[in-house]
Amino acid sequence: MTGLFITFEGGDGSGKSTQSALLVAWLRSEGHTVVTSREPGGTDLGVELREIILHRRGYIAPRAEALLYAADRAHNVATVVRPTIERGEIVVQDRYLDSSVAYQGAGRVLDGVEVRDLSLWASEGLLPSLTVLLDLDVVAGRARLTADDKVFDRLEAEANDFHARVRAGFRELADAEPERFLVLDAARNREDLAAEVRAAVLRLL
Ligand code: TMP
Repeated sequence: MTGLFITFEGGDGSGKSTQSALLVAWLRSEGHTVVTSREPGGTDLGVELREIILHRRGYIAPRAEALLYAADRAHNVATVVRPTIERGEIVVQDRYLDSSVAYQGAGRVLDGVEVRDLSLWASEGLLPSLTVLLDLDVVAGRARLTADDKVFDRLEAEANDFHARVRAGFRELADAEPERFLVLDAARNREDLAAEVRAAVLRLL
């Protein structure tokens, strides 16, 4: 028996965490066992890697950054995601390999195929059953982030053209794998978005 692996992707400020929390609450209310995770930072090792990747002062070379995300992913898949889906349960996760292709590939301008292959090596080829892409205009996403006065991390601090490449990168990925992706306009109201996510998950259950 295999469970489900559902991932949420999108730019910073697109509402991934809100939508994944709504989905998890609904799945649990329907009696499903759900494990949540995030990348980077879904494991104890991942929390340490996340601190380095997002908050280390000073330059990190793009390939080193890609490898750090891949290391976090390898450990998360081996110790959290695979064991859960092998028990027949559901993993709902914020971000996965599509983020690497969009941010390190399109954003940092590394070769997208190489970045994806690195993640596939790290995860021993694991792809999600469903990936929800919350697509949002870059300026609107940034406005949502600044609204709560937070300090930007290394990636959030990148300029708008970086984030515009990331957004285009995500959309290209979704176009290439329409059967895996559900693309939603993240500017819509959160209840409507949640209903669309539930409908897509119901088709898989
Ligand atoms: P979060 O704040 O949504 O948890 O994500 C942390 C940041 O890391 C976010 O700016 C996106 C970025 N990121 C990558 O650049 N590559 C990756 O593979 C992942 C998972 C996240």
